[in-house]
Amino acid sequence: MNKAGQHHGGANGNCTSRAKAVSGAYNSSSLMYKMLRAAGWGPLTNLGFYSLLQPFQWLSVPAVQTALVRRVLSLGRPQASDRILDVACGRGKSTYMMACAAGNDARVVGLDLLPQNVSAASWLYGGDGSSGPSYVVGDATALDSHPAALELSPTLIYCIEAAFHFDRPAFLAAAARVLSPGGRLVVVDFAWREAAAAAVRAGDLDLKAVQTTRSVWQFEDFSTEAEYCQMAAAAGLAVREVHDWTGAVMTANKWVLGTAMKLARSATGRAVLGLVHPDLKLTQQEWAELDQLVHCQLTCLEHVRYIAYVFERSQQQQQQQEQEEEEEEEEEKHRAA
Ligand SMILES: C[S@@+](CC[C@H](N)C(=O)[O-])C[C@H]1O[C@@H](n2cnc3c(N)ncnc32)[C@H](O)[C@@H]1O
Repeated sequence: MNKAGQHHGGANGNCTSRAKAVSGAYNSSSLMYKMLRAAGWGPLTNLGFYSLLQPFQWLSVPAVQTALVRRVLSLGRPQASDRILDVACGRGKSTYMMACAAGNDARVVGLDLLPQNVSAASWLYGGDGSSGPSYVVGDATALDSHPAALELSPTLIYCIEAAFHFDRPAFLAAAARVLSPGGRLVVVDFAWREAAAAAVRAGDLDLKAVQTTRSVWQFEDFSTEAEYCQMAAAAGLAVREVHDWTGAVMTANKWVLGTAMKLARSATGRAVLGLVHPDLKLTQQEWAELDQLVHCQLTCLEHVRYIAYVFERSQQQQQQQEQEEEEEEEEEKHRAA
């Protein structure tokens, strides 16, 4: 295991400034994150899966977050023989769940851009070196130059609700390169609805809402489902499954966020929230700011779907890619001669 806090892959000024920006989305400098932390975010930082069959889970944010990870895990069907990489693992709970699901013999590595996440993950869930998950700092878009990812040569890669932060074509290409032949990549991410993608890019959508949400959550753009599948194919990945979880993730979250903010609009509601968690003892101005941020996020989410993809590094595609690379090399040699 690499020492927590050590950076591999993309270790340059660019990466450090990106890490600084991403870090701001997940600490107390963000009012939105403060609210979510008060609601139970921490070991997991995802929106959660609200199943109608499990209504009592709705009462606990950590429970619905765990339910989301379980759903994602089941798409990859982890086995003891797997070598699993959890890309953008946050504070490591998803990686730990992968290790539990796969069984004792599986090798499981969690990777995250933020050293503070990797330290927390190692401390909370790290194994003893011979069993259990290990955690490394790294950039998802540079997996193919990351010593731990290369050494692991994963048969299964997960990336849960994080790819919106990074350059998706670069990530998909890097993931395809480190996956062993026949290996699978399970990605869960936001996607613009088709009409919204065109409107956002033409500047026709409610830009203030989108821009505000972008700066809170540090993303450039989403991809539509069709664009995702095209990017995956270009990276040499076959699309095996696509699941639309918008209802169970987005609709429920919109309702929960909207209700919380309705409560916060009255002085009594704010006082109650302040008693529930010290992070929610905010000034009137902070509540007003948070109200605006939530309003922008809810507006933005209207145009977004929540999709789970299962891609596969097929042997046929790998051979094709190797052949193309060989042909390119040959051509270059000819040109140089
Ligand atoms: C919304 S959280 C999801 C965390 C975790 N997958 C979960 O479900 O709890 C997004 C994570 O992406 C990580 N991240 C952002 N950009 C990254 C990059 N370029 N490489 C690796 N991790 C990155 C952040 O540090 C953060 O932990």
